[in-house]
Amino acid sequence: MSEIYSPLDDSFLLSKVLKEQIPKLLISNPNLKFLEIGAGSGIQLKTARDLGVKYIYSCDINYTAVKHCKKLGFNCIKSDLFNNIEGKFDLIIFNPPYLPENKKEPENSRISTTGGKTGSEIINRFLKQAKYHLNKNGKILLLISSLTKGVKFDNYMKKLLKKRKFFYEELYILELSN
Ligand SMILES: C[S@@+](CC[C@H](N)C(=O)[O-])C[C@H]1O[C@@H](n2cnc3c(N)ncnc32)[C@H](O)[C@@H]1O
Repeated sequence: MSEIYSPLDDSFLLSKVLKEQIPKLLISNPNLKFLEIGAGSGIQLKTARDLGVKYIYSCDINYTAVKHCKKLGFNCIKSDLFNNIEGKFDLIIFNPPYLPENKKEPENSRISTTGGKTGSEIINRFLKQAKYHLNKNGKILLLISSLTKGVKFDNYMKKLLKKRKFFYEELYILELSN
């Protein structure tokens, strides 16, 4: 069974950016429809709820994480990216598995950390699908790392919101829009 991802530097960085961005977004749209792909422990869902977001949706591919987030009171379903997600959202966030494959990584944490051979496999699938789930003026907040190679942004408009150097990598939070 896969374990639930315990929040780490990446989670805290994304949470910090949510605290900076969501209040601004709520001013122009108090009914902000928020979706998190890969909710894990629910850390980002809690941040969104604490900031006053009323319409919070989420999913994870790991059923243990889904059950956990549901127990916390969140609307969370099992889904491989957008496969079971219907509708459009004003804000979609994803702290994805972004590391290149490492044979030493334990089987039960790979689901949260490993994004294929170069680290970008899941991110690229996400980017292909996410554009169809964005409302007009909707935004995506995506975390990637200096270790992630081969991300294909296609026609998304892209803005770097935050970068932070850690011991062996640099993390970036990007804002993307159609
Ligand atoms: C790095 S963890 C982030 C967890 C949490 N959002 C946070 O910020 O701490 C990545 C999460 O994405 C989930 N995940 C991995 N592949 C997925 C997929 N294809 N569809 C949905 N969720 C996925 C994992 O199970 C894990 O919970």
